[in-house]
Amino acid sequence: MKDILVLYYSRHGATRELALAIAQGIDSVPGLQARVRTVPPVSTVCEASAPDIPSEGPPYAELRDLEECAGLALGSPTRFGNMAAPLKYFLDGTTPQWLSGALAGKPACVFTSTGSLHGGQETTLLSMMLPLLHHGMLILGIPYTESLLNATQTGGTPYGASHHARADSAVHGISADEKALAIALGARIARTAASMTERP
Ligand SMILES: Cc1cc2nc3c(=O)[nH]c(=O)nc-3n(C[C@H](O)[C@H](O)[C@H](O)COP(=O)(O)O)c2cc1C
Repeated sequence: MKDILVLYYSRHGATRELALAIAQGIDSVPGLQARVRTVPPVSTVCEASAPDIPSEGPPYAELRDLEECAGLALGSPTRFGNMAAPLKYFLDGTTPQWLSGALAGKPACVFTSTGSLHGGQETTLLSMMLPLLHHGMLILGIPYTESLLNATQTGGTPYGASHHARADSAVHGISADEKALAIALGARIARTAASMTERP
């Protein structure tokens, strides 16, 4: 059984919903399973520290999760058109994996949630790809052969899965189209990992 790491940060639960849909897509592919992990918030006061085990939700990611998994789905809320600091902070700690090439040749995809419709889904998704390219990962998007990409009135982009949460993330769950496209992306990264016999 190969694992795909679904690594996300979510403050209010919207990005988490996308993560679970992507995990559902991964789990639909025989021989593949999602390993869902999150990251703790970061604090402006250096004394603050989170417990090692979160009180709810999936465990915090460890660097070995990156090494052990056959692929990575990376998700963050959009913050000022970019990924949230807690996820960037985690990625900034991956120098050993960069030096060893632990992620090189593995498939990866990205996902995000925004408060507003034109609030930067694409900029966030594209900028989230940058550190993954530095790691040598193979970036996957959502192809237009997924017909919902043309039809969606909510989120879902060729650059990755997305959700338009509007003003209150907790009130509006992901739409049927957003969920279907996230599942399709999860299945795509899983099928890609399953088909790889060696890392290019
Ligand atoms: C500091 C901060 C910056 C944000 N920047 C943006 C933004 O640039 N564009 C946008 O549409 N929404 C922005 N939002 C809203 C979040 O992206 C949105 O509420 C998202 O759905 C939260 O995801 P979550 O429920 O997983 O935490 C921002 C929120 C915060 C707290």
